[in-house]
Amino acid sequence: MKKDKKIIFAPSLLSGNFADIQYSVKLIEDADSDWIHLDVMDGVFVPNITFGHKMVQDIRRITKLPLDVHLMTVHPENHISDFVNAGADYITFHLETVVHSHRIIQQIKESGCKAGISIVPGTPVGALSELLPFLDLILIMSVNPGFGGQSMIIETLDKINFLDDIRGNKGYNYLLSVDGGVNRDNAELVREKGTDVLISGSSFFKSANPIMEAALIRGNKGV
Ligand code: DX5
Ligand code: ZN
Repeated sequence: MKKDKKIIFAPSLLSGNFADIQYSVKLIEDADSDWIHLDVMDGVFVPNITFGHKMVQDIRRITKLPLDVHLMTVHPENHISDFVNAGADYITFHLETVVHSHRIIQQIKESGCKAGISIVPGTPVGALSELLPFLDLILIMSVNPGFGGQSMIIETLDKINFLDDIRGNKGYNYLLSVDGGVNRDNAELVREKGTDVLISGSSFFKSANPIMEAALIRGNKGV
């Protein structure tokens, strides 16, 4: 890992209290977080159902933090304009849900948002190769998507190594994000692989001290 690389810490609201979103957002802000990660699940691509663009719109009104929307839905192209209008900053969709991935990346970028793509643990990283020059963010799922609180599949981090090397060699600009099972025990390894964005759901929200948890995941010295 490059020395003094900036880590983006992005708690996932999925493990927050949906009956008190304002409190959960405040906790994220109090922990000096960089982004808020918002998991949109449709009950089709993944077994779980969470929320749609109205939630993003309402959160946009109560925070200035960048909103990192992770679409786990079929037909993501049908929802992009709603999430753009709701105030998303990053919109990430799953490669496994689409045929015309390049067109959807263009669609997101033309609407003024940053475009991200994600792959599940079973999808080979090489499937992204043609898309690398066009992406603002690549989200590597380190668990099978659908639920918070699962254990990280450590082998998925090799995808980060691979993408970090290509980024260096080719001068690409995407950020690398790891989502699923990130905690204080594995965060150093995740950072060392070349990850920029560390997403944390249950390890942050279920911690007795989320502010310290955030600092440990970031790798702040002196905590
Ligand atoms: C899982 C979601 C994740 C989830 C992570 O499908 O994409 O963002 O919130 O939760 P933890 O950190 O508990 O694995
Ligand atoms: Zn996510």
